[in-house]
Amino acid sequence: MTEEIIKCKTRVQKHGEVFTPKRIVNKMLDIPEIKEACENLTTTFLEPAAGEGAFLVAILERKLKIVSGKYNNDLVQYENYSLLALTTLYGIELLEDNAQTCVMNMFQKYYDHYKEQIEYHNGDMKQKVLESAKKIISLNIGNGNFLTRKAVDGASLVFSDWKPINLRKTTKNIKVQRTEYTLDEIYENTQKENGKALRQPKNEPEQIDIFSFLDEELETQEDEKEMQYIPVKIIDVYKEEMEEV
Ligand SMILES: C[S@@+](CC[C@H](N)C(=O)[O-])C[C@H]1O[C@@H](n2cnc3c(N)ncnc32)[C@H](O)[C@@H]1O
Repeated sequence: MTEEIIKCKTRVQKHGEVFTPKRIVNKMLDIPEIKEACENLTTTFLEPAAGEGAFLVAILERKLKIVSGKYNNDLVQYENYSLLALTTLYGIELLEDNAQTCVMNMFQKYYDHYKEQIEYHNGDMKQKVLESAKKIISLNIGNGNFLTRKAVDGASLVFSDWKPINLRKTTKNIKVQRTEYTLDEIYENTQKENGKALRQPKNEPEQIDIFSFLDEELETQEDEKEMQYIPVKIIDVYKEEMEEV
C-alpha cells in the first residue's frame, strides 16, 4: 500500500502539511540517543506538529515492545506498564481532523498490541483499561497552535502530567497523580501542588433554577471551586476523580 504524504495542495501551502513516511520516521528514531529514549518507558516526548501521529505512533510501538518484553509477567503487569508508556506521549496539532486521526491512530496501535497480549495470556480485555487508554491519549493530544500555545477555541492549551507514585521494579498496580498545566506554565517551569486541576468537574447535574438571576454571586463562587485530582490506579484514570481543595 502506498503512503499518502500529502492531502491537498492548499493544506501544504497553508499549514505545511506533509506527512513523514514510515521508513523515514523509523530511520530518525534509530538515531542512537533517540532510540534509547524510545526504549525508556518514562521518557517523555512532545511532538509540536503531530499531524496524524507518524512519530508518536512509531514511538508508542517501540515503547509497547519494551513493555511486552520486560513488563509482561502477566496481563495485569502488561496493562499497567502499557498505560504508563502511553502517559509519556504528548502532541499538539493545529487541524482538528489531523488531531482526531492522531488520537485514533494511537488508540488503534495500543488496542492491537493489547489484543496480542490478550491472546498470548489467554485473558480478557478489560473495558476500564481501554477507557483509560482513550482518556490518556485524548488528553495528551492537544488540538491547537504550538506557536501561540492556545487551543482552537482561544483558551490556553492544557496538558496533564501523570506522575507515577512510588514506582519500583516490583510495582504491579501503578498509581498515578494527575496534575494539569497550561503550555505556558510548562514553558515557565511552574511548580504546582500535586493534583491541581484547571478544568471543572464534569457530569454534575445541571439545575434549572428560575430564580437563578438572584443567585449570581453564589454562582460565581461555585464556578471558582478549586479542585484537585486524587491519586488513582492507572487503570482507573478514565474516571477523572477529583475532590474539592
Ligand atoms: C510537516 S507536517 C508533519 C506532521 C507529522 N509530524 C509527520 O511527520 O507526519 C506539519 C503538521 O503541523 C501542523 N501544524 C502547522 N502549524 C502548526 C502549529 N502552529 N501548531 C501545531 N501544529 C501545526 C500541520 O497541520 C501539519 O499537520
